[in-house]
Amino acid sequence: MALFLWLGSQLSSLWSNISVLGVFLTVFTLLLDFMKRRKKWSHYPPGPVSLPFIGTMLSVDFHNPAHSFKQLQKKFGNIYNLQNCWTNVVVLNGYKAVKEALVHKSEDFADRPYLPIYEHLGYGKKSEGIVLARYGHGWKELRKFTLSTLRNFGMGKKSLEERVVEEAGFLCSTFKSKEGHSFNVHAPVNNAVCNVICTIVFGERFDYNDETFHKLLSFFENFLKEETGFLPQLLNVVPVLVRIPGLAQKIFQSQKAFMDFIDVLIDKHRETWNPAYTRDLTDAFLKEMEKGKEAEENGFHYNNLRLVAADLFGAGSETTTTTLRWALLYMLLHPEIQSKVQAEIDKVIGRERPPTMKDQVSMPYTNAVIHEVQRYGDIIPVGLPHMTYRDTELQGFFIPKGTTIITNLSSVLKDETVWEKPNEFYPEHFLDVNGQFVKPDAFLPFSAGRRVCLGEQLARMELFLFFTTLLQKFTFVLPEDQPRPREDGHFALTNSPHPYLLQAVPR
Ligand SMILES: *[C@@H]1O[C@H](CO)[C@@H](O)[C@H](O)[C@H]1NC(C)=O
Repeated sequence: MALFLWLGSQLSSLWSNISVLGVFLTVFTLLLDFMKRRKKWSHYPPGPVSLPFIGTMLSVDFHNPAHSFKQLQKKFGNIYNLQNCWTNVVVLNGYKAVKEALVHKSEDFADRPYLPIYEHLGYGKKSEGIVLARYGHGWKELRKFTLSTLRNFGMGKKSLEERVVEEAGFLCSTFKSKEGHSFNVHAPVNNAVCNVICTIVFGERFDYNDETFHKLLSFFENFLKEETGFLPQLLNVVPVLVRIPGLAQKIFQSQKAFMDFIDVLIDKHRETWNPAYTRDLTDAFLKEMEKGKEAEENGFHYNNLRLVAADLFGAGSETTTTTLRWALLYMLLHPEIQSKVQAEIDKVIGRERPPTMKDQVSMPYTNAVIHEVQRYGDIIPVGLPHMTYRDTELQGFFIPKGTTIITNLSSVLKDETVWEKPNEFYPEHFLDVNGQFVKPDAFLPFSAGRRVCLGEQLARMELFLFFTTLLQKFTFVLPEDQPRPREDGHFALTNSPHPYLLQAVPR
């Protein structure tokens, strides 16, 4: 009996300890939340009610985010706030708001949020690559270096333009080898586009059947997949989780394999490096690294070299591949537009000579079609996240330093106040009454301002040369046994077409 009573009292004291602990934890949590939560600023953009800890995350339906965002925009206007746990986010919609932020207040919006999910790749305070680097001296140096390296790409034996033309030739051979049977263009187009990046970074292209190349591409494809989904996103919001031993390695296996691959290629360069002869971007970077302490402080060190290489793959392959896949899909859906492009090619270039960039000015229609592919294909709907570099003001709203900014490029490319037929494929958006090429200011597929896509020139060159070469050599038709391809996209970081088959009929 006594034992019983004793046990009972122990239990109840344990229980009350637990409740005390519970109350304490709740109070602590709320207190922590209160401390970390944003202050109340006047004129801060409106937004949905924010709960402790989770912020406004319940306002977004993760199964159908596009719908939730649309509703939020309807309710709160073109500039509204969200809160991911304790991260303040402001979403900008429409040409006016996005343009003012990116172009007129470029520096205020030029920063990037720090993204802990990349730490396992070597991303960190001292090595950030370019694309995701914080705004500042290091970023400027690396961006300048990369832009000038891309521009001076006469360093190899061939100019970049010649290389792209040559690659377009390889792509045509592959299409031709299908002998008119239906096939999916995804893999060959991706091979061609990735080869351009490989040439720039590592000075070599791969045969489309090369096994190493296939490995590289499949790691890279999974690289992107590993970033979508709930867990990786959670890691960005609750970064401590990244430090759980083994977790990052497990989630990001392909990313790690991809980086290992880059390391191997870089090592090979180091072994064969000859400072008198620069073969490619890696060599140019190694040359900078040789310059010593100051160069290192400017970001020219090994860790950054591998991140810059990864950045170029990340920014330069999937995007261009996807755009070309959209381009061919629209040609299937609009044979009359395809014929007009081909007529212009025949008139300006003919059937034999490969296209050059000089031809572009004499080909307004083709140019308009390519621009319309980029507008309507809308491949990076919300761009990359920005962050305010200092306190700023946008259309009467106060936005403090350190706020994550989502620029909805999609809402610009399809802004009803700017485009005549925003939701149709209509190349005339880029032609004036005389059939001359014009580029409306709201054409921002590469974003704009200081953080504008650094591969814009390269991408434009690839799109023009690949597209015209393909249409010079083939007519693309929908196979009889295939359904009409879907025009809506599949969204995962990029907005890409659902898989489709076509026939490439030699001309
Ligand atoms: C971006 O704009 C498009 C078109 O207006 C809209 O459907 C989408 O929901 C918006 N996304 C965000 C994140 O606001």
